[in-house]
Amino acid sequence: MRVGDAVVHMLSVGVNGYGTIGKRVADAVRSQPDMTVQGVAKRSPDFVADHATATGYSLYAASEGDMTPFEDTGIDLAGTTEDLVTDSDVIVDATPGGVGEQNRTLYERLETPAVFQGAEAPTVADTSFNARANYDAARDAEFVRVVSCNTTGLSRLLAPLADAYGIEKVRATLIRRGGDPDQSSRGPINDILPDPIAVPSHHGPDVQTIFPDLSIETMGVTVPATLMHLHGVNVTLEATPDVDAVRERLARESRLFVVPERLHIDGCGELREYARDAGRPRGDIWENCVWGESIAVKGSDFYCFQAIHQEADVVPENIDALRAMFGLADVGESIARTNDSLGLSFRETPDGPPPILSTRASGD
Ligand SMILES: NC(=O)c1ccc[n+]([C@@H]2O[C@H](COP(=O)([O-])OP(=O)(O)OC[C@H]3O[C@@H](n4cnc5c(N)ncnc54)[C@H](OP(=O)(O)O)[C@@H]3O)[C@@H](O)[C@H]2O)c1
Repeated sequence: MRVGDAVVHMLSVGVNGYGTIGKRVADAVRSQPDMTVQGVAKRSPDFVADHATATGYSLYAASEGDMTPFEDTGIDLAGTTEDLVTDSDVIVDATPGGVGEQNRTLYERLETPAVFQGAEAPTVADTSFNARANYDAARDAEFVRVVSCNTTGLSRLLAPLADAYGIEKVRATLIRRGGDPDQSSRGPINDILPDPIAVPSHHGPDVQTIFPDLSIETMGVTVPATLMHLHGVNVTLEATPDVDAVRERLARESRLFVVPERLHIDGCGELREYARDAGRPRGDIWENCVWGESIAVKGSDFYCFQAIHQEADVVPENIDALRAMFGLADVGESIARTNDSLGLSFRETPDGPPPILSTRASGD
């Protein structure tokens, strides 16, 4: 089986779907010491296609029928998605929700494992995945689904709380951005939507694909913003810890940035500015941003606000999913290697230095 065969060389990763997530995953793969980008596939010969070839990625058209428009505009193609799947050890499928499921038959026919994204139904894969919470579930799996940006954000927060204190019940309100910065067709433009209106929302069951026994209820809101999601989280713990101990415990997590009060970061706009000032590629924030001042414990009830950069937080998880599937590293090694290669440095521990700002460029 190809999963076993691939352990002996640089993992060759094809990225099918080169949009918001696909372009970031490709750049992240390229920065890893044990992986290489075989190529990227998309449908349209637009500015994103230009950027892919300028970046040095081999570009594949989604199908033979999609090749002509690329050729008409003079963009060189390496073939079609079918060729990419044949040439790659593994595919990261970052096509829009539902397309990945259709693509699965191609991956099965060509015996190429794949990582799917959060908009696919959980049944598309052998397991849903979050590196901090269930890395080993993806070991030797042929198909893995990296959960959505919101579920990734909740899983990273809940895993250390569950480990340290036990969890009785989670209640979270997810205030979600209306669209990504390049999605002019999405909204609302000037409104605030209970979304979905029916309570609880579908996000809780998605978190249960990572924590099957977790008691969790969620409510969703959509707002006219593109910057980030904002979560208001209440977790009833099985213990009554000291608030400072909880803050310190969370600050030790490598993908949780407990935002210190001294930075005076008042909202998502300033968080994104902080990332841009740090030289992060595309201003990306791969870490959950948990406001330190928001962390409160009342009896056994924990509270916090966290911001999630929807375009970025799932990117390191895709890299770890690949290592887990191919047995390239255990969980600690993989997370450390991914963090180091990308430059995840937004962290301030009680006994550590102030955040070291990353100046790494994507793909270097
Ligand atoms: N955006 C987020 O904030 C976010 C966060 C976490 C997870 N996700 C998940 O990531 C996945 C991708 O989302 P996205 O936001 O990255 O989507 P996106 O920006 O719309 O990009 C989708 C990409 O797939 C290509 N594509 C569309 N139809 C295709 C087809 N039939 N065959 C091959 N390629 C096709 C598109 O090519 P063309 O542009 O050439 O048509 C584009 O390159 C979804 O499951 C989503 O839920 C998204």
